[in-house]
Amino acid sequence: MEKKMKVSFVYISLSGNTESFVRRLSDYLLEAHPGLEIETVHVKDLVKEGHPFFEMTNPFITFLPTYLEGGNGVDNGDVEILTTDVADFIAYGNNASKCLGVVGSGNRNFNNQYCLTAKQYSQRFGFPVLADFEMRGMLGDIKKVAAIVEELYQL
Ligand SMILES: Cc1cc2nc3c(=O)[nH]c(=O)nc-3n(C[C@H](O)[C@H](O)[C@H](O)COP(=O)(O)O)c2cc1C
Repeated sequence: MEKKMKVSFVYISLSGNTESFVRRLSDYLLEAHPGLEIETVHVKDLVKEGHPFFEMTNPFITFLPTYLEGGNGVDNGDVEILTTDVADFIAYGNNASKCLGVVGSGNRNFNNQYCLTAKQYSQRFGFPVLADFEMRGMLGDIKKVAAIVEELYQL
C-alpha cells in the first residue's frame, strides 16, 4: 500500500499575507501531488480560541511574518511584537526538534529588519531559514518554497 504523505505548516498571519501564501502554496502542492495531506496550524486561531498548545506529531515548516518594535534592526529594533505566540508554540514540548525550518516574510522597506524574526528563531531554536518572501509572495516564491517542501518531505 502506498504511504500517504503528510506535510505540516505552522504559521501566524495578522493581516492575511502569510495566510494567503500558505493557502496558495497548499493549492500548488496539491495540484502537483494529488492525495497529499496538508496539515495547517494557525497559531493565532489557537490562541484566540483558547486552544491549549500541543506537540506536533509530523515534522513541520514554520511561516513567520516580521513585526518588530521601531528601530533599525542593527543597534536597536530587534524586539519581536505580535508574533511571539509562534515562539511559544515552537518552544512547547518537543516541537522545536520537529521544525524543519522557517520561511520568513516581511517588507524590504524595513532594510536590516527585513525578516529579522525568522533569523532570530533560526538562532534560538537551531533550525534553518529556508526562504524568505515579501508581503503575499509572488508565484516565483510559491514555486521556490514548493521545491523546498518537496525536497524536505521527499515528495
Ligand atoms: C507594525 C508593523 C511592523 C512591521 N515590521 C516589519 C519588520 O520589522 N521587518 C519586515 O521585514 N517587515 C515588517 N512588517 C511587514 C510585515 O511583515 C508584512 O506586511 C507581512 O507580509 C505581514 O504578514 P501577515 O499579513 O501575514 O501578518 C511590519 C508590518 C507592520 C504592520
